[in-house]
Parts: sequence; C-alpha cells; structure tokens
Amino acid sequence: MTDQGSQASTGNNLDPWYFNYAERTSGLAASEVRALFAVASRPEVVSLAGGMPYVSALPQDILNGTLEKVMRERGPVALQYGSGQGHERLREQIMEVMALEGISGSPGDVVITTGSQHALELFSKLFIDPGDVVLSEGPSYVTAMVIFKSYQAQVEHVPMDEHGLIPEALSEHIARLKAAGKRIKFLYTIPTFHNPAGVTLSEERRPEILRIARENNILVLEDNPYGLLYFGKKGPDALRAQEEEGVVYLGTFSKTLAPGFRVGWALAPHAIREKLILANEAAVLSPSSFSQLVISEYLEQADWRGQIDTFRGVYRERKETMLSALAEYLPELSWTDPAGGFYVWLTLPEGLDSKAMLPRAVRELVAYTPGTAFYADGQGGRNMRLSFCYPTPEQIRVGIRRLSTVINGEQDLLDTFAGTGPLDHPSSRRDYSAPPPDIN
Ligand SMILES: Cc1ncc(COP(=O)(O)O)c(C=O)c1O
Repeated sequence: MTDQGSQASTGNNLDPWYFNYAERTSGLAASEVRALFAVASRPEVVSLAGGMPYVSALPQDILNGTLEKVMRERGPVALQYGSGQGHERLREQIMEVMALEGISGSPGDVVITTGSQHALELFSKLFIDPGDVVLSEGPSYVTAMVIFKSYQAQVEHVPMDEHGLIPEALSEHIARLKAAGKRIKFLYTIPTFHNPAGVTLSEERRPEILRIARENNILVLEDNPYGLLYFGKKGPDALRAQEEEGVVYLGTFSKTLAPGFRVGWALAPHAIREKLILANEAAVLSPSSFSQLVISEYLEQADWRGQIDTFRGVYRERKETMLSALAEYLPELSWTDPAGGFYVWLTLPEGLDSKAMLPRAVRELVAYTPGTAFYADGQGGRNMRLSFCYPTPEQIRVGIRRLSTVINGEQDLLDTFAGTGPLDHPSSRRDYSAPPPDIN
C-alpha cells in the first residue's frame, strides 16, 4: 500500500487510489464471512448472529407521541446544530440512568456521542499511538477491536473465566509487557453481561482489577451497554461507581431504548472530558439534536424503567429458551449462562472449527458468529457466539435444532476421518477484518 514505486508497474484496476490510503487503513478489510451474512439475513435463515435489540417490544404509540411533541414544541431546536458536549437536560437525565448502577458525578462530565461506538472511536483517537498496547478481555467486542487496530494498536487479550477477567492473568500480562518495554495505554473492559462471552466480572474481583490498573497507571475504559438488562438479580455496580479518576465509562441508549437514535455517552474525568468534547466537535460538530431531544422527552414522559423491565422479561425468556434447546439438542457441548445481556458463548468439541463450519450452517438455514471474530490474534476457532436478543423463542428452538444437525454432522465427519491427517481449516489463518454492522 505504501509502495509508490510499484504503482506505475502493477497498478490496481479495482481501486486507482489503492496506494494513497493511510497505513492505518490496512486492517479495514471486509470480513470473509460478510458475504455469508448477507445470505443469512434472508427470512428463512434463523440468525443467531446479530446483536440487534428487539425494538418491536417498544411502545410505538408513546414514541410517536414523543416525536410529534418534540417537533411541535421544540422543532427549531431539534432541527438545529447543538452543543459539542450534548444537550444539557439529557446529560442530567443520563446521570439518573447511571445512578441505577451506582454511579454519581456531574452532568458536566458527560459527553454525548453518536452511539457508544463513536465514543470508542474518539477515545482511541485521543489515546492510541501506533504500537501502543491495548489490553482487553479475550474474547472481546468485535468492533472495538476493529477501531483499536485502525489506530495501529497491539491488542493483548487477557483471559476470563466464569467470574470475568482474571486478576492474576491481568497482572502477569502487564508485567510481561512492561518487561518487554511496551507502552500499555488502557484496559478496555465490558465487565457486565459481556459481549460476546456472556459472563460478568464478580463483585469480589472488581476492586482487585481497579487496584491493579491504578498501581500500574493504566486507565480503564469501561464499556457497559447491557448492565441494566439483567434477568434476575441486578448485576454488580459499575467499575466507575468505585473509581472516578482512573475510569472512563461508556453508556448507550441502543440496548435499553433503540439503536436507531444513535445516542450514547462517555463519563470521563474532567481533563479527558475536555479532550473528548474537542474530538467530538472535530468529528461531527454536534451529536444529533433531534435524537437527543426525542430521548430526553421520552425519559421525561414515559415509564422508561418499566420499559427496561419489559426488555428484561423478553430477553430472559429468550435466553432460557436457548439454554434449554442447547441442553436438549447439544448436551455434550458447553456454554456460558449469562445473567443478563444478549449473548451465549459456546465451546465446540476438540477438532471442530466454527468458521469452517459456517457455510454449512447457512445452508442448513442457521447463522452464528464464529469465535475468531472476537479475537485480534486468531484465537476462538472452537467457539461461537449465539445471540438470543432478536429471534423469537420459537425461532431460537428451530435455530438450535438446525445448529445441532450441523455440529453433529461435522463431528461425524471428523470421527470418520480421524487419524487420516490434519485438515487445513481456513480459520486457522489470522483474520482481523470487520463484520457487517448488524453483527456488532
Ligand atoms: C460492547 C459494546 N460496545 C459498544 C457497542 C456499540 O453500541 P452503540 O449502538 O451505542 O454504538 C456495542 C453494540 O453492540 C457493544 O456490544
């Protein structure tokens, strides 16, 4: 991409500007499973792949009334540019939302962004220089990995168990990286109802993780889209509830209301907040005034706590359906049992490969996301993420039954050919590329 000299000799018929792109764009390739996901969006396919909330459970009439009221009473404000930090009243209301997870602070330290995805982008722009290390759980949120990589970070995965990130492993990674002279910029973590692993960092480990980060001067980037979507007992309070100066907290209305508004936020220590506002202004001038006013009005008028409770009921039923279907159709396998959120992380038997298996699954009319998508270093071949957020319980049962046909078929093949030599699965090669946006 940088070889200007060979430009004239080799050329590139597909893209005449191929040699002009910045070095950092080299990782922005379409995933090889992208085409498959286009097929997977056909109605006859049960997709357990996407992270789309079930927005049909929202009160359509109340939202219509909110839109209408905003336009009638505040049209000129809603249609105008706004502040780069975001609408003041909405920032106050966001403090009420975060208080449900133990967070206190000043609305002056909230910066509203175009979804929390955009906050991840702005934060990365502020902190990552090429070659810097970003620590993250392994596996981790696929589109955060894409952003970190686009800023040329080296992503180092720290393992989790059923209680979340393992403190001893975090300490070991930090010590090893420091000894190698690496510069660790921050720890990116999704402590509650993890995407994709479905686990939650235990109450006991939270102060421990914060202590390790503090002692090593490592900033924590806490990403928490799912914290309010618990199925039984409320999850532990946010990390930010215990530590103000060393944590930047990201929240969003995408999963508790609707992603179409594209409204998320960062709560940051004062100095970082200043920089985030400048970066926000440079990127988008101001987040959408229209979306912010509609959400603010909705929070003012509607029973939003009750609505989140409705979502909890919907997702709890779907999770239970998925787990009971797995127990019925694939009893030999293991999977996580999330206490909230959208995702189950499935582990396949030794020798099976989730990415190699995906075309066959799509032929059987079921889709999932292969585990390799959630690692920056090619791990995850024996895993897959199953989402229960969008399909109905009936579809989930059908999807898991189809998946069992695929997995059992692959296992039979493997048993038949066992001992005849290694199979070269394409997914054993490294793949950092971005999935389609609805896979998040
Ligand atoms: C862990 C995590 N972070 C961030 C996002 C982005 O959400 P938003 O719609 O707020 O940009 C998602 C979306 O699925 C997610 O799962």
